[in-house]
Formats: sequence, C-alpha cells, structure tokens
Amino acid sequence: MTNEVKRRLICHWSLVIGHFEIWKKRMNSAKWWCLVLFLVFSSSSGSAQIASRPADEWIPLLESPDRVANLKVPQVVAALRLERGYSVADIGAGSGLFSRALARTIDPGLLYAVDIDPELLKHIDGTCKAERIPNIRTVPAAPEDPKIPDKVDLIFLCDTLHHIAGPDKYLTKLPAYLKPGGRVAVIDFRENWPPGHEAMKFTAEQLQSWMAAAGFKKVEDLSIPKNAFFHIYAPK
Ligand SMILES: C[S@@+](CC[C@H](N)C(=O)[O-])C[C@H]1O[C@@H](n2cnc3c(N)ncnc32)[C@H](O)[C@@H]1O
Repeated sequence: MTNEVKRRLICHWSLVIGHFEIWKKRMNSAKWWCLVLFLVFSSSSGSAQIASRPADEWIPLLESPDRVANLKVPQVVAALRLERGYSVADIGAGSGLFSRALARTIDPGLLYAVDIDPELLKHIDGTCKAERIPNIRTVPAAPEDPKIPDKVDLIFLCDTLHHIAGPDKYLTKLPAYLKPGGRVAVIDFRENWPPGHEAMKFTAEQLQSWMAAAGFKKVEDLSIPKNAFFHIYAPK
C-alpha cells in the first residue's frame, strides 16, 4: 500500500469513526456494509478530494472574520506584484475570498476561479454579479487537473494543496498552464493546523521538493500570513 493510499484511508476513517455510533444506530446491517464497501472503494480510487465539505458549510468558515483578518488578504495580493491586464488562476477558489481581491487588482485581466465543487462556483458567480466584478470566470476543475482554459501569468493556491490527493503529481500539471515568465504562489499552514487536518499535513520542505520535481525553483519565501508559509515559484 502506498503512502498516498494510507493517507486517504486514515482521512476517510477518521471522519467515519466520529459518526460511527450515530450511523450504526440508524442503519440496518445491509446498508451499513454498503457504506463500508463504498468507503473502501473510494479510498483506493484516484479522484477523492481530501476532507470535502458541503458548500453551505465551507462558505461561512472561509469568510469568517477571524480567518479573513489572519490571512491578510490585501497584503498577500500586494506581495504578488500583479499588474492590470495580467491573468490569474485561483485553484481551489472556495467562496472566492482571494478571487475577488485578485480580480479587482488585475481588471481588465481575467481571473479564473477554479474549483471542483460546482456549488462553490455558483456562489462565486452570484457574488461577482452582486458586487459587479466583471472579470471572473468560474472553471469546473477535475480532481487531478485544474483545466484552466488559457495560459496565465500566475497560479495561486491558498489552503488548497492539502485537500488534493497526490499533490506532487498534481503540481506537475501546472507548467503547461503558465505563460512565459509565469509564477505559482502557494499558501498553506506552517503550524497550528486546524483539528481534523492530521492526515493532510505537509511541510514547506516537502512542497519545495515536489515543486523542484515539477520543474520549479522557489523565488520568494514570504512571512504573511502568520503561521503559514507563502512561497512563490517560477519555472527553472
Ligand atoms: C480550504 S478551501 C480554500 C478556499 C480558498 N482558496 C481560500 O483560501 O479561501 C479548499 C478548496 O479547495 C477545493 N478543492 C479541493 N480539491 C480540489 C481540486 N482537486 N481541484 C480544485 N479545487 C479543489 C475545495 O472545493 C475548496 O473550495
């Protein structure tokens, strides 16, 4: 069994154990075994998102005032030194927290808000309409490929990589989506990983070695937000 399969199994089963007693009481034995078989099967398939949540749970968490303040969104966007007319892909856009700020900065350039959850993309479409942000295009991604419709100047991932099964392999897909001179920015937890993230943790050093194997070198190592790492990479 590979480490990746082990990681996914641990993640699935830690979620299952939390609800074990409730589910067992509610289900007859045939339904229970169907559930067990489903979980075992999905653990060994290549398409699972790690620790998925329904959109109506994600959105308030991702937009909570504490999280937004801690992420220092304006400082992060300023540190990316974007210019008007640039194109950017926000992979794992979630509620659109960074997509909105990035889109305003590069307008009239296009911001691709990429996610595997169609409900989150619908939410982003709605908020862009309400807030009159004309330059965001939502993009339904495949779990193993962002499917960005055009090459971009920057690929941005905040708190997304740890949800992607097989992050090392995923990162090898990114060079094909970059314009010459394009960059990849990754923000993720350095410490204080939230509870429930035990099986998803990775280190800045691991990221650096995955990126090197995908053909990138680190060009900036920033210390915003607090308790996170914020690396910017360019092709070697
Ligand atoms: C913790 S949220 C981060 C949202 C946003 N980047 C932010 O910082 O506010 C992780 C997001 O990654 C998305 N996601 C998970 N796996 C993905 C994949 N393989 N491709 C694209 N998005 C993915 C989830 O649907 C979710 O919206």
